[in-house]
This record gives sequence, structure tokens and C-alpha cells, in this order.
Amino acid sequence: MIGNSFGRFFRITACGESYGIGKGSGLAVILDSIPPGLKITDADIQKEMDKRRPGKGKLNSPRKEPDQCHIFAGIGQDGVTTGAPLGIMVHNVDTQEVHINQYKSYKDLIRPGHAEYTYFVKYGENADWCGAGRASGRETVGRVAGGAVAKFILAKEGIELMAFTKECMGIKAKEMSFDEAKKNYMKNEINCPDLEASEEMIKKVMEIKNEGDTAGGVIELRIKGVPAGLGEPVFDKLQATLSHALMSIGAIKGIEFGAGFKVANMKGSECNDHPYLEGKKVSFKTNNAGGILGGISNGDEIVIKLAVKPTPTVSVKQPSINMKEMKEEILSPITRRDPTLLGRIYAVAEAMAACAILDALYMYRGYDNVCRIDNPWRQKSNPK
Ligand SMILES: Cc1cc2nc3c(=O)[nH]c(=O)nc-3n(C[C@H](O)[C@H](O)[C@H](O)COP(=O)(O)O)c2cc1C
Repeated sequence: MIGNSFGRFFRITACGESYGIGKGSGLAVILDSIPPGLKITDADIQKEMDKRRPGKGKLNSPRKEPDQCHIFAGIGQDGVTTGAPLGIMVHNVDTQEVHINQYKSYKDLIRPGHAEYTYFVKYGENADWCGAGRASGRETVGRVAGGAVAKFILAKEGIELMAFTKECMGIKAKEMSFDEAKKNYMKNEINCPDLEASEEMIKKVMEIKNEGDTAGGVIELRIKGVPAGLGEPVFDKLQATLSHALMSIGAIKGIEFGAGFKVANMKGSECNDHPYLEGKKVSFKTNNAGGILGGISNGDEIVIKLAVKPTPTVSVKQPSINMKEMKEEILSPITRRDPTLLGRIYAVAEAMAACAILDALYMYRGYDNVCRIDNPWRQKSNPK
């Protein structure tokens, strides 16, 4: 398996499966470019892990995993980071025989919408049949642990990230400012800050769950406090780096920046964000660009929407293929699953965006330092 790392400077490398063998099985992440002297603890990381973990309610998988994280490397005797790579480990604790046997009972069958077919094609008969291996949503444990550290560093730079449910099966939350959304962030199981819409969404998901089916939706991700200047003009545009980070999350099928696909029906004069002077600072009347122009952050909020597909595992009978016997069969899996991914995946989106923004920040500061750039306009755009 290739491609288990993300980032050029702030680099995360992750491993681990949702089952694995033996008592020590679990997931780990190694982080490069950790500044020395950070007072970061297991508890700081756990706050983010708790947003993602399953078993919290009727809208997510009943698997009981506390996702207790433990920093096992990179902290010195003084209790602060030493600049060495930070290592974080999370053990699997709810890997019961009964569930392993469930997976075993249809191990040669492909689950429609899941990764078994492509894993069979790529890894052959040794592909992990228990709990989907690296294609499991549990793979995102390492991302969230790494992202928690990135968020911790970004907070010191005044950069804050928040993701929430914007839409579920056609039910839409109203438009909200960052601060309005933050007031009701994580207040309900589906993490929709429009409390009225959240009730309708939960009702809809429960109806679908009772049919043995699953529901999709849209997550909105906001990033506040990003200075103007992050991102490179050509291949490493900030939206390209963010897309790489976010589109690498399982079940994310679409991404929009700012007005996104709506630009297709706009006139140029409507789409363009008109600049104005706020004292001596350049600001924009609208944010159709989603905070990025020419691949470079413009100092406005970064606004991203992510299309989340319905969880592929459903109990509804569906056509499948037995890959060992090359025979068509009908499958209705009985394994644990999330009736919708919306109540958990937002934490993974925040984590991956934090890794991408911190990586871009390292690149931006490194370039400026070596090139000794002292740009008077930059200071006006980034008054802090
Ligand atoms: C946090 C999270 C939890 C997930 N939980 C499940 C699950 O319980 N059951 C399932 O079938 N898929 C789940 N998925 C989705 C699969 O991992 C994903 O759909 C699969 O790997 C196929 O990849 P693709 O949908 O990107 O093509 C989850 C994904 C995430 C990010």
C-alpha cells in the first residue's frame, strides 16, 4: 500500500485497521515538523477523538470504542514536545468474535458501494476481509489524532476550524455566520447548528435507518483567521491542497469552494467579490471565492462544502458477486454501521483541513524567510 502520508512539512503518516489481531491491535499516527516546547497532552487530543468516536447514540455505529489516545513519542521529561516526531496510538477494544464471524460469513462477497471489489482487484486474496481494513471508517482515527495536533498549533496562530451538517436528504440548514453556527455547534446528534432543521434531519435518518438503509448529506467547513498569502499559484493552489486532504476521506464524493457549482449560473459581475477599504484593510463585500483567489488565501473565511455519500453497508438485499466462485449472489450484511456518517465525519474534515492549512503555513513562512519578503501590502491584509 502506497500513500500513507500526507503533507510536505507538517506531515502525517498513519497506519492501523479496524480489527487487526491480538490485544495490541489499533491505529497509530506519526507527525513530522512538531515545534519544540508545545505543552500538548493526551487530553487535548482526546477532545477531538471524542467528536469522531462511534457508539454515542442512535445515529452512529453501536461499536463501543472509547478511542482513548496515548502520545507514546515526542514528549520529553519536562512534559513538552522536544521537536522529535510525535507518535500517537489508539487501541481497538471492541473487536468481538461475533463480529469477526459476521465478516467471515461473507468474506468473499463484495459489498456494493464499499471497497471490497477494488481491494480484491488490487490486493488479491490477502485483502483484509474483516471490517474493511484500511477502507474502514476507523482508519480516520489517525487523521483525527494528527489533525488535533495541527488544530492545537493553528489555534496559537488565531486560526479556527469548524465543520457542521448543512444538509441531509434534502433538508437544508439556514445560512449562518461562523459565530452563529458556533453557538449551536455539536448541540445535537447530527451536529446541525440550525436546531429546527436538525430535528427534521434526525427524524428522516431514523425513518431510513428503520428501513435498514442509510442517509447522505452535506457538511460545511469554515476556516477563520487564515492570513492572506497561503497557497502557491500553480500546482499547489490552496484549494488543490485542501481538496487532496478532504477528498482522501472515505465517503466524500464532492467538494465546493465558496459559491461552488452555483458559479455556473452567475454573471461575472455577480460572481466577483467586490473589494472595499475597511480603514486601510482590503475587504470583500461577498465571499463567492470561498476565501481563495489564484490559489492563494485572500484573508477571508475559507468556506467549503463536502458531499457525503450514504454509508454503503445497508441491510437491504442487494446484488453482489462472490469473488472466489465468480458467481452472482444476493447480499444483506448484518454488520455494525452508521445510519448516516454526518454525525462523525465533520471531525475528520476539520482534522484534514487543519493538516492542510498548517502545511501551507509552514510553506508560506519558509518561502518568505528564505526570500526575505517584506511586502507592505501583506501587512495591510494581515493586520494582526
Ligand atoms: C468516520 C467514518 C465512518 C464510516 N463508517 C462506515 C460504516 O459504519 N459502514 C460502512 O459501510 N462505511 C463506513 N464508512 C464509509 C467507508 O469507509 C467508505 O465508503 C468506503 O471506504 C468506500 O470508499 P468511498 O465511499 O470513498 O468510495 C465510514 C467513513 C467514515 C469517514
